[in-house]
Formats: sequence, C-alpha cells, structure tokens
Amino acid sequence: MNQPYVPHIAAPDVVRNLRALEWVAEIAELTKPDRIVWCDGSQAEFDRLTEEMVQSGTLRRLNPEKRPNSFLAWSDPTDVARMEDRTFICTQNKEDAGPTNNWMDPAEMRSTLAQVFDGCMRGRTMYVVPFSMGPLGSHIAQIGIEITDSPYVVVSMHMMTRVSPKVWDLLGTEGRFVPCIHTVGAPLAAGQKDVAWPCNKEHKYIVHFPETREIWSFGSGYGGNALLGKKCLALRIASFMGKDEGWFAEHMLILGVTSPEGEKTYVTAAFPSACGKTNFAMLVPPPAFKGWKVTTIGEDIAWIKPGKDGRLYAINPEAGLFGVAPGTSMKTNPNCMMAVRENAIFTNVALTDDGDVWWEGMTDEKPAHLTDWQGNSWTPDSGRLSSHPNSRFTCSARQVPSIDPDWENPQGVPISAFVFGGRRSNTVPLAVQAFSWTDGVYMAATMGSETTAAATGKVGVVRRDPFAMIPFCGYNMADYFGHWLKLGWSVKHRPHVFQVNWFRTDANGKFVWPGFGENMRVLKWIVDRTRGQASGIETPLGWVPDYDDLDWTGLEKFSRDQFKAVTSIKHDEWEAELQSHDELFERLRDRLPRQLQLRREMLHLDLGA
Ligand code: OXD
Ligand code: MN
Repeated sequence: MNQPYVPHIAAPDVVRNLRALEWVAEIAELTKPDRIVWCDGSQAEFDRLTEEMVQSGTLRRLNPEKRPNSFLAWSDPTDVARMEDRTFICTQNKEDAGPTNNWMDPAEMRSTLAQVFDGCMRGRTMYVVPFSMGPLGSHIAQIGIEITDSPYVVVSMHMMTRVSPKVWDLLGTEGRFVPCIHTVGAPLAAGQKDVAWPCNKEHKYIVHFPETREIWSFGSGYGGNALLGKKCLALRIASFMGKDEGWFAEHMLILGVTSPEGEKTYVTAAFPSACGKTNFAMLVPPPAFKGWKVTTIGEDIAWIKPGKDGRLYAINPEAGLFGVAPGTSMKTNPNCMMAVRENAIFTNVALTDDGDVWWEGMTDEKPAHLTDWQGNSWTPDSGRLSSHPNSRFTCSARQVPSIDPDWENPQGVPISAFVFGGRRSNTVPLAVQAFSWTDGVYMAATMGSETTAAATGKVGVVRRDPFAMIPFCGYNMADYFGHWLKLGWSVKHRPHVFQVNWFRTDANGKFVWPGFGENMRVLKWIVDRTRGQASGIETPLGWVPDYDDLDWTGLEKFSRDQFKAVTSIKHDEWEAELQSHDELFERLRDRLPRQLQLRREMLHLDLGA
C-alpha cells in the first residue's frame, strides 16, 4: 500500500504569510517532489543552480573570455515557443473569456489539472520563488510566487523579475500574491536518469483562472509557458485585474525621448511579435539628430495607472529581457548586443567553435562552422538555420546601455503618447495621429499584422491583433475595448494616440522606409505633435505628416515619391481593410462598444470606401 505523502516544507523564518505556507504545502502534497528549496534570488543561488545545470547537461558554460558568466541551453525540439492553442482562460462564464480566447469550464479544468499534477514532481526538486513584478513596494507592482521544478526557470526568473526575500516581508502574514504553479511534467522514477531538457511531449496546459488570479502551467519549460511572471501574470492575469481596478496591463514597450533642449517625453508602443519592438525600445537616433536621446524603460510590457494629476503613469513590471535573437546585430540593435555581452542565458542559438554564440543576422558574414541548436555540425551551405527562429537571449534590463534612469521609479513615468504598429506591406500609412481617444481606440482595436514565416510558416497573411493583445488578454476582447474607452475618457490628460507602419513595400517587395534608427524621424514628429510643435494634414484616418513635417537632415536622399509610397491612403485597399475590420467586429459583436461600430461607419463614409 502507498504511504501517504507528508511534505516537509521547512519554510524559512522570513515566510510568515499564512496563505503562502498553506499553498506550498498543498502543492507539495499534490506534486510530490523529492525536496523543496526556498529561493532567495541571490548570486550564490544563481551560481549554484547554473553549476548544477552545467553538470546535468541542461546548460553549457560559454567561453568566459568571449561571453563572461553566460550560458547556452538547447531545448527539446518540441518545446520551442509559446503554445497559444494550449493556453486557456477559465472564467466561470464562457462569454467573459470571449471568442478570442480558449475557454474551458473551471471545474472541468481543475479536475484535469488535479490528475496531471498528481505526482508530477516525483524525483525532482520543487523550487519556491517569491517575486515582484515592478519595483518592490511600488503601488503599481504585484507580488507572485512561482512554484517550479525547473532550475532553468528559477535562474531565468532571477533575471526577468525581482526575486528576493524582501517579497516575504512585503507580504507579511496576510498580503495577497498571485500563485503560479509550473512543472515540466516529467516525473522521474527512482534511479531514472534525467534528460537535458525535460518536458511533457504529450500534454501541455497553460491555464489561467482570472477570477481567482491563479496560474497553472504543465508540460513546457520554455519562455512564456514557464516564466509565469511574464505573459501569464503581467498580461493575462494583470489585464483582468486592471479591468476590475481601473488600470491597464499592456503588451507595450516604454521609451523616453529627450530633446536637445532637455525636454523629456515618454511614449509607449504596442507591436505584435516580429515587428521590431525591442529595436524600437532601444532605438539609436541617426547621427544627424545631435542632442536627441532615446532611453528604455521597458521592451515588452507596461502597467499603466492614472496618477493624481490626471495623467497616466507607466512602469515596466519586468526586470529583464527575453528577446528574440535572430536579426539582432550591432547594426539593428547595438544596445541589445551590448546588454548580452555578459551575464546572459541564450536558448536555442548556435554555438561557435570557440565557445561563443551566433544566430542568423548577427554578422553579415556567416561563421565557417558552428554547432546548431540541435547539437549538429553546421556550415553555411548546410541549407538550414543554425538557430531556431524563436531562439532567445535573457539578461537583466540593468545591462541595457540605453536604460532610463527612471526605469525603476516606483511612481512610473508619465505617458504622452500611445503608439500602435503592425507589419503591413500596404494600406496603413507610415504614421497617423488619431483625432480623438475613441478614434485611437478604434485604430488599436483594428490593428493587424502580416504573418512572418517564423510565426506561422505562412507569409503575408494579415492577422488581426487588437492592441497586440490577442494572445495575452485575460478576458473578453470587446470588454477590453470598453475598458480602454472608459478609462481613457475618465482621465484628465489623455495621451495622444498614433499608428505607425514601418513595413510598406514597393513593387519588388522591398521595404521602402529604411526603418531602425531612421524611425527616430517619425518618433520626433510624434513627440512634437504631443507638444503642439509639429503640423500634419487632415485625412479621414487622422492627422498624417506631410513630407515637410518630418526632419530629413541626414536622409535627404529619401524622395518625395518614396514618401508618397509610404503614406498614401488608397480607396480600394481601405475598402478591403474595413471589410476585414467587420470580420473582427462580427466575432465580438455581442459586447462590442457602439462607438467602434460608429467610427467604422464614419471611416466608410469619409473614405468613400
Ligand atoms: C514575446 C511575444 O515573446 O510577444 O514577447 O511573443
Ligand atoms: Mn511580447
């Protein structure tokens, strides 16, 4: 007969939160780990766990002369990305999750989870990781506790969040936290040898219970499926909290622009994956923009709350970067390349023969020989990629040279503009400023982006991705639009709303706009517009810059014709575009705010489309 499992949770004295103690005991009883480790986020803990993972084969230490204190992980080839079809939002009522989320009845899901989690940590260590999303103690921050059986997750959480025993002090005996349970779903039988990247190849569940603010993740060790502070807590659960409590949790970067006169303006921007969000967050202005500076507060997520002065204030809830490696180079994003020079973890990139890392696009010239992300010998004529298209780097945001001095300001930074962008080879102009808050919400709600091979295997299909939140909104998307309308109109000093598109192509399929640092020209126009210092022309979509409204110093070769190619608004393209907006609105019809339908009608009439 099986002995009953009696967990010895041996919590350190600093843990006095009754709910946390009870919960850790409950989860230990369910998952049955061999031992429990209470994590403190210290360097000693990081060093111990990384060394253990080097010994077990999960990590490879990179050449300390090339890449000090850095590691490379190669995941199981079946565990390489977020899994949207295995991500669930379990609200009591299906309508509250809405048609854009995978819903399952909470009771049914709980019974499934009780089965799959039963004994799932056998033979493994259960780590208890206390963390803060946002500066410790900030009124905008939230506390989470992640229980995981993956040491890779623990060391990644060290970089991506604030892991500290101080979290227990903040929680005291009664404080609230978001319980986040993660397992790779690969229990070990007595004497069974572990693999380098344990995961469950058959079952994966990334489950959110927004109403009780819980996260349960089973079967994957990778990124957003496993580092539960990021997409799960900071977007899906936090967006639900924000709706109830009057704030926004957004898939947005936050940057600061300082003019030569020293005036500072903060901007947030939402782009779907694969639109160069990290590059924009760390933009280096062109040499002709002497005295202009762009600083980074965050590159993926923003939590935004109304301040007493009637402005909206944003914090970056994260403490690190988990960015896509391919395409990142000294040309496209020097700040990012410098950030990962040391103390970094790389996942699924290639290994060079001298113990460093390489990925597609890092250098113009490909190395003559590499070991690819699956451990095979690779040469430039192998005919395959050396790194997985979704391979990643992880490091602390502190290492980003462009980091803003206020990036950890617990009050956040005041936002002057919201920018929304997508990848569109036509239709959407280079830049548009919405006439009103409602028009801006319409722009963001109808945002679309063309798929890249990396994401779907299909190229050029427009996927509607409202606010870049399709995979991340923890409730009904139509209610989310309503929340944006209501909260925005309730604050006194609303940020201005802009739409941008860097990706228009010519007849040969070549990008017309040079992008990267040159996006500064559009950013400057945006900043100047928020200060009433730039003109634009009125179109049915909103205000757009005329050629002479942008500063062309240093890029005089960009002709008026090229400018026309990136800014034209074409009748037939907009006819198709509005029909595609209708398809989205039709899906959301039951709860769609009426203003958006009216705005759609206005556009139709004004464009003659
Ligand atoms: C990300 C994403 O990984 O948005 O940040 O997919
Ligand atoms: Mn993202």
